[in-house]
Amino acid sequence: MTAQELRKKYFDFFTAKGHKIIPSAPLIPENDPTVLFTTAGMHPLIPFLLGERHPAGKKLVSVQKCIRTADIEEVGDDTHLTFFEMLGNWSLGDYFKKEAIEWSFEFLTSKKWLGLEKEKLAVSVFAGDKDAPFDEEAYGLWKNLVISEKRIAKLPKKNNWWGPAGETGPCGPDSEMFYWIGQTEAPEIFDPEDSQWVEIWNDVFMQYNKTKEGKYEVLKQQNVDTGMGLERTFAILNNEPSVYETELFKGIVLVIRKLASLEDYESSFDRLYNAGSIVNQEVDNLKERAEKMLSIRIIADHIKAAVFILAEGLEPSNTERGYVLRRLIRRAVRYGKFLGINRSFTFQVAQPIIGIYQDVYPELLKNKDFIEEQLIREEEKFSKTLEQGLKELRVLENQLASITGRQGFDLYQSYGFPKEMIREEARKVSENFDQEFDEALKKHQELSRTASAGMFKAGLADHSEIAIKYHTATHLLQQALRDVLGREVGQKGSNINAERLRFDFSYGQKMTAEQIKKVEDIVNEKINEALPAMLKEMSLAEAKASGAIGLFAEKYGDRVKVYSIGDYSKEICGGPHVQNTKELGHFKIIKEEAVSQGVRRIKAVLE
Ligand code: ALA
Repeated sequence: MTAQELRKKYFDFFTAKGHKIIPSAPLIPENDPTVLFTTAGMHPLIPFLLGERHPAGKKLVSVQKCIRTADIEEVGDDTHLTFFEMLGNWSLGDYFKKEAIEWSFEFLTSKKWLGLEKEKLAVSVFAGDKDAPFDEEAYGLWKNLVISEKRIAKLPKKNNWWGPAGETGPCGPDSEMFYWIGQTEAPEIFDPEDSQWVEIWNDVFMQYNKTKEGKYEVLKQQNVDTGMGLERTFAILNNEPSVYETELFKGIVLVIRKLASLEDYESSFDRLYNAGSIVNQEVDNLKERAEKMLSIRIIADHIKAAVFILAEGLEPSNTERGYVLRRLIRRAVRYGKFLGINRSFTFQVAQPIIGIYQDVYPELLKNKDFIEEQLIREEEKFSKTLEQGLKELRVLENQLASITGRQGFDLYQSYGFPKEMIREEARKVSENFDQEFDEALKKHQELSRTASAGMFKAGLADHSEIAIKYHTATHLLQQALRDVLGREVGQKGSNINAERLRFDFSYGQKMTAEQIKKVEDIVNEKINEALPAMLKEMSLAEAKASGAIGLFAEKYGDRVKVYSIGDYSKEICGGPHVQNTKELGHFKIIKEEAVSQGVRRIKAVLE
């Protein structure tokens, strides 16, 4: 089976059950400051899980591109990835547990669909706690489907509860499906701790909304949110020992092996350890090969994630999303150095990635130049930093007999020099170098975790409210810009966080102080007029005919949502918005600058 066949089967199955296909949303959420990247298919659907009507209806299906960095330390094993695709189906207050579970089972095991073996299937359900009871219904449904009750595990919230995606929002008990990938027969009793049981699909029953106070309110609408990992399922279907052997990685791994002159390396640990030619060799040799394989896998994973993020126009930087992107690229470069690749290489790894995905995600090919340029530039910057670090190391070495772990950590902090590299580069390191380095690192991590926890609490406590205000202000701003600068103004990008809005638009020159003042005045005038925001659904043709502007027309198929703010602004948009502009307060532009040729950026705040 090809990956495209799997995507298609999933769509075919769920459209046959009355679902409408919705396209993947961007990885960079449009109006959600609570997360850095889209981490699940439910993410772009949050307003609809909370009760807003979705133009495509109550039953939806999608393949969503996702980025998760929480498991980054596990990346390189057989199943964890930073970038992955999630197959998902949703009920927005339509069907519930019975259909969700029965359909999951049918899709997985029916010969007509995936045809996986029932004998290798196990599931888990929520065991219950103070917030919500044991999921008896899910248990009862599975009892009739799996081969024995010994294949159903009852697990606590830590395992069988999903959401909210940010601090607040829709969530609920879930039921996960696992598949036995071991070479032996599947054990009678399901042990969720055994990694040979691979989680492939999660059905979440979103019955609750977690509030700011930490309460679980029952939602008026009972939703289903599901997520199946495409890469994992795909590897299982093709009997591959890891995701890296599938067509979604093979070409990428091959390019990295060539770059590192390791053509004879397998990318599978399984095969490595089982290969007769290798078992007789020295253990050290085996270890070295395993480390190199791991590096190849990490590079493939990280550059794939970076390419998908770059394809959405983000650049590496030192804050938030840009920083995650920077870390992914630099981490890959470091592993490249470990493999002995000493020239600029990440752009070459990008090529097979674009090749594999260009038909499904056309943004990759469209932004190929930007992606390659950014990779080259970031790699150059990082090389310079490493060179500086090396100089510093030599200075230290002239002063001291050996480098201590503390000094090593300082180098790591300032220049991104990883521990292994310092150990390799330094003429001599102190005896307890590793221990000291690790202690310093741990202390640093604790401090920064506390700091960021504080930031999230303080900054995002009432984030959704603030974000909604900024979203409405963005609509007013766009219209005001069109009034003052002309119709050449079109949205090029929008980003909102708890502190400000940022709006990129097409316009050829720097705005004058007068123009900026005029735009500000118009927005404030509209705020003071206390205009209501109103939502209407219509066909795309009607929306266009009514003069609505908007970028995201392709998103919801033919029916679109149009938000009007009084008679002043009209945009195709998914919402949400404030009810009345008087909620916004005072609007102020704090910066106007160029982003690129013909594109300007405004940052503005509500006071
Ligand atoms: N949102 C659920 C998950 O990501 C389906 O597992």
